[in-house]
Amino acid sequence: MSNNILVIGSINMDLVVNVERIPKAGDTILGSDVETFAGGKGANQAVAAAKAGGQVSMMGTLGTDAYAKELLLGLKDVGIDTGLVLNEEGSSGIAFITIDAKGENMIVVSSGANRKISKQNLEKIDFESYSYLVLQLEIPLDVVEEALIMAKSKNIKTILNVAPAQKLSQSVIKNIDYLIVNEGEAALLTNKQVSDKNSAKQAAKILVDKGANTVIVTLGADGLIWQSPESNGDLNAHKITVVDTTSAGDCFCGAFAVALSENKDLENSLAFANAAAALATTKKGAQASLPNREEIDKILT
Ligand code: RIB
Repeated sequence: MSNNILVIGSINMDLVVNVERIPKAGDTILGSDVETFAGGKGANQAVAAAKAGGQVSMMGTLGTDAYAKELLLGLKDVGIDTGLVLNEEGSSGIAFITIDAKGENMIVVSSGANRKISKQNLEKIDFESYSYLVLQLEIPLDVVEEALIMAKSKNIKTILNVAPAQKLSQSVIKNIDYLIVNEGEAALLTNKQVSDKNSAKQAAKILVDKGANTVIVTLGADGLIWQSPESNGDLNAHKITVVDTTSAGDCFCGAFAVALSENKDLENSLAFANAAAALATTKKGAQASLPNREEIDKILT
């Protein structure tokens, strides 16, 4: 088996406005001019993995609008195999993003073509060519569930980033080798409050008890914790100046898959992903901010 990584997921064009503060319900506030960036959690993970040195294929669905061509080109430009990227009549996914003065964001996604990917599309995949499958939740859950089942039947390692947050059944959790969640996602899956490393460790134990093999809870500026059958531990976040947190979580997942595919052990794979994600917050844009291998190696030395 090769060390290929397959990402199945969303591809969006991000329409970004910078604001002083994220508006509350009923507010009208003035923001910057609109900037467009290639994004989508799936595509961001694929680009992060490719830039970090992985051999990456992506399956996702674009529309037939002008954004579709630009988004496909962005994937090809970083060497991603796009043979499994499909086109469906209509709009591509579009994300409306506001970013505040601290670099924190608020995102509304219009799924467009992303919701048209189907279980039938998975039949096009030769799962035996891949060692790692990376998934998130901006495509229909039944497709994610089926992809996990198909991958596990071929002994492919599965990584699921539970973003955007959604409840998962125990039968789905059992097919996940690496479950990656942030505080909010961990809280939703466990019905417990998660706000620091201690509460994150409790939540991770609950998810391991539900059948996940290894659980990683990312905590932004507070670093991360992990719980696996063999080990548990935590890492601190890198101290950096945050410009825009968009895609930091996606970057973490893509870089993590690359490190695992290079046979790094769990702790070193997490350290690699942690460094990549920190770098992704130092620049504007989703895919535009993702670091290359040289930059990740440099911050780790
Ligand atoms: O995780 C960041 C991504 O979420 C953005 O690129 C946007 O497209 C939304 O999918």
